[in-house]
Amino acid sequence: MSPTDGLSVFVTRRLPGEAIARLAQACAVAVWPEETPPAPAELRARAAGADGLLCMLTDRVDGALLDACPRLRVVSNLAVGYDNVDLAACAARGIPVGNTPDVLTDATADLTLALILAAARRLPEGIAAVRDGAWGPWRLDWLLGLELRGASLAIVGMGRIGRAVGDRARAFGMDVIGVGREGGRASLHAAVARADLVSLHCPLTPETRGLIDAEALAAMKPGAILVNTARGGIVDQVALAEALRSGRLAAAALDVTDPEPLSPDDPLLAAPNLIVLPHLGSATTLTRARMADLAVSNVLAGIAREPLPHQVLAPPSAGTAPDTDRG
Ligand code: DGY
Repeated sequence: MSPTDGLSVFVTRRLPGEAIARLAQACAVAVWPEETPPAPAELRARAAGADGLLCMLTDRVDGALLDACPRLRVVSNLAVGYDNVDLAACAARGIPVGNTPDVLTDATADLTLALILAAARRLPEGIAAVRDGAWGPWRLDWLLGLELRGASLAIVGMGRIGRAVGDRARAFGMDVIGVGREGGRASLHAAVARADLVSLHCPLTPETRGLIDAEALAAMKPGAILVNTARGGIVDQVALAEALRSGRLAAAALDVTDPEPLSPDDPLLAAPNLIVLPHLGSATTLTRARMADLAVSNVLAGIAREPLPHQVLAPPSAGTAPDTDRG
């Protein structure tokens, strides 16, 4: 008899590959069948009798949910970031929380470089010009962008993903300025003032919410580019729209926003020189399968009351330091 016999796991979305089959070999599994996340009341009802919860970054795991799930032994978040999980509430109930670092580092760093290149070389404007019939004879001075070799890139949060972005940026000949939490906002502002591009890779915590506010944007070099593949809440979007409208920033490229999804009539989308992607950082077939696999390993270990392969450390203050990855 295995230690997980008779136990059950609720999974809040269908998973790619063989992940569900692997889970089902060890315990009873119920899977939320919809494409959209369960509403909080639905999540509470479905997870109420479960021993393990395998959830997505779109599911809020808080005290109310945990109170509705008295059998819960583990929360396995299928993401590296875990700002959707109340770590203190989990720790208070002795429930370990797992996440999925490492396996998505390359995919997310690659997408960051794609955004850096798209914004620096003005790809959306070029694509639009071709489609709109605005492509005239070749011109020496049309759609000139920023050359990456010799440009400086401030990376806010030198965790796994930040470091992987740094490696890629150096391969393009960029000068990398790593920004950690030491020195606080003053050193952040000093670093972004020196950079042609600023890329965000810190987790969303109470400390980093709104970190890139009007003041931080004003500290950036005139004509600089902001890239965010971390979490939308790190950037004050009203201040960002203003910085783009005024021409203070040349461009911004975001894979994440607050909220997600962003409504098509959100005022941010009216700002010029803005690229917004729908949270695609880890969206490769291989990476998503690996994330699912790791989330299954975490939940299986948790229901068996074994150490999780990747356990998020409980807070001092919820979340991790801003100089680590998004979680
Ligand atoms: C994560 O894992 O936190 C990512 O944002 C998902 O792409």
